[in-house]
Amino acid sequence: MILPGDAPASIAAAVDALTAGQLVGLPTETVYGLAADAGNDTAVHGIYAAKGRPADHPLIVHVADAQGVAAFAADVPAFAQRLIDAFWPGPLTLILPRRPGVANGAAGGHATIGLRCPAHPVAHALLAAGAARGIAGLAAPSANRFGRISPTTAAHVAQEFGDDLLVLDGGACQVGIESTIIDCTRGAPVLLRPGQIDRTRIEQVARARLLSKEELSEPDPQAPGTLLAHYAPRAKLRLMNARELRTGLELLGADAKNIAVWARAPLKSASSQLILRRMPDDADTAAQQLFAVLRGFDDAQVKLIWVETPPGDAAWDGVRDRLARAAASA
Ligand code: TXA
Ligand code: MG
Repeated sequence: MILPGDAPASIAAAVDALTAGQLVGLPTETVYGLAADAGNDTAVHGIYAAKGRPADHPLIVHVADAQGVAAFAADVPAFAQRLIDAFWPGPLTLILPRRPGVANGAAGGHATIGLRCPAHPVAHALLAAGAARGIAGLAAPSANRFGRISPTTAAHVAQEFGDDLLVLDGGACQVGIESTIIDCTRGAPVLLRPGQIDRTRIEQVARARLLSKEELSEPDPQAPGTLLAHYAPRAKLRLMNARELRTGLELLGADAKNIAVWARAPLKSASSQLILRRMPDDADTAAQQLFAVLRGFDDAQVKLIWVETPPGDAAWDGVRDRLARAAASA
């Protein structure tokens, strides 16, 4: 059931559920999460089972504040601390060396742990209320089934997991794509997943060059957010430039159906059965809408999704990454 996230009674009900080892749908500023007490391996196992996610793919642990890091991380390098000070609470996840013995299930057996302090007021209220009841952190991957589109509204979460799950409604997610993930266990920061935060800002704050995954000598363990084919809508997604889109629509003419288009360029189609949606010109707004747009296209049961390739500049890194993955699994 969906409960209003801003009501104290909802937070109390959610903490009761977590304490009993149950899962809760959690709003964050990025996407909705499927949360369990990170200290309860049985509950965390329930996340993997519900998502259909392989058990060695680690989950992000959410903490109430920067002090929460000490419960899970064995060490915080100076550049990682600067990132925490600058970007938390916010859409940034840091991979840190794990304190031995804690959050084994959430870490998927790895010697490291992913930590994030979300900025959403409902997430914060739940984390603070949980902390008061001895829950040091919430393990929460995105609340979608494995390989599917991340949810950005409470209704999306209910659509994925049904009505039995308690979902706190925190409205539509502001950021709309998952957090930026930086591995801080390799001496220098390594970007594992781009998000809303601009890489040049990360480098300024860390006072270090941000390495890419490809520059690592020892490759990262394969994990869902880093798999190429991920974030897949049911329909086949193709990235095209504005000219290709125009030509394609012209060729199809009035016969075009079962196709949806998301583009910044103004386009027209002779078909009334074609879904045309305008992609915002601004990267942050496009990110905010991305997953809901793809989900909407799937709900309309189109067979093909044509998306205009986003601009190449850093502001669009996160959106370009998600679209490239969605196209790769087509
Ligand atoms: O914005 C977000 O990060 C959302 C919200 C709910 O906080 N969560 C999210 O979780 O996207 P999930 O499980 O869908 O993605 C977690 C990513 C995975 O790609 C996983 O590989 C990476 O985090 N990750 C977690 N712990 C890790 C670790 N110890 N080492 C390497 N990667 C890790
Ligand atoms: Mg995910």
